[in-house]
Amino acid sequence: MTEQIESIKKEISDFVIESEETLESFRLEFISRNGKVQKMFAGMGAVPKEQKAAVGKQMNEVKILAKSRFDEAKLKLESEQQTSFDAKDDITIPADPNYTGSFHPLTQALDEIKSIFYRLGFNISDGPELEDDFHNFTALNFPADHPARDMQDTFFIRKSDDRDEQDLVLRTHTSPVQIRLMKEQSPPVRSIMPGRVYRNEAVTAKSYFQFNQVEGLYVDENVTMGELIETLVTFSRLMYGSDVRYRVRPSFFPFTEPSIEMDVWWNNEKGGQWLEILGAGMVDPNVLEAVGLDPERYSGYAFGMGVDRIAMLRYGIDDIRLLYDNDIRFLSQFPS
Ligand code: DAH
Repeated sequence: MTEQIESIKKEISDFVIESEETLESFRLEFISRNGKVQKMFAGMGAVPKEQKAAVGKQMNEVKILAKSRFDEAKLKLESEQQTSFDAKDDITIPADPNYTGSFHPLTQALDEIKSIFYRLGFNISDGPELEDDFHNFTALNFPADHPARDMQDTFFIRKSDDRDEQDLVLRTHTSPVQIRLMKEQSPPVRSIMPGRVYRNEAVTAKSYFQFNQVEGLYVDENVTMGELIETLVTFSRLMYGSDVRYRVRPSFFPFTEPSIEMDVWWNNEKGGQWLEILGAGMVDPNVLEAVGLDPERYSGYAFGMGVDRIAMLRYGIDDIRLLYDNDIRFLSQFPS
């Protein structure tokens, strides 16, 4: 038996493998189900009991040898194939252009907004997307029965019943970050607060259940409405060009008094139209009180804008859903 094993071992070692065909012959002869290695194992039955262990070990070594010769030869053949140059290859054909990634249009718009406010002296702050009722509503002067707290607008996150924790909401706007900021820092506070917000709205070309906002806040002594408008006009000029047409209208928000909205004129095929780009106003004294600031001493302004709207205007995107599908055919149209 031992001689038989030795002779198979020698055959395996001596077998010359130099092509796909000889590799296949090697496989058939030794490794396949009817190959010599398998047959050798079949002879185990005739081996006397006390020799079985030693013979089995020898056989296994032969099996491993066959497998490793096969693997090595296969690898070698494959690597040779890859490097061999085929005369029919035309090396003068230009290579396929490499697709290089680019920033998402939302990121590009946001970067621009950030860099403008950075130049105007604002810091950047952020806060959690999972908020409590106090920061998202109460501290911002929303009355208890305000419709914005309604199930239709807000995603409520219910905490488990057995623990004594309050329910949370997915923040419906970035304004709660104002509250966190005023609690953490003492005036002067001057920051923008970009972030993702959520609303329980039907998904259409114009509305989505999540979008992005940039909040702004400046609190100090003697902050005026004039400064607010000047800042917003400067922002619009830098964002939309020095010839931008804008208008400021009175509006209402629970957390600002007085409140305004700003529109810019948008030219399109139909002749053009006014588009609202942001809400703003003077921080309501109730909000200052909610964070422990003295409204007799401090005043402030705040504003909030939609990044999605800005990106859509800038790039002529007419369906907000495109911004969240992340289809590469869409994204590759906005090289950065
Ligand atoms: N939070 C408002 C919204 O989501 C936007 C807003 C309006 C923010 C006026 C402000 C502000 O800071 O002063 O519609």
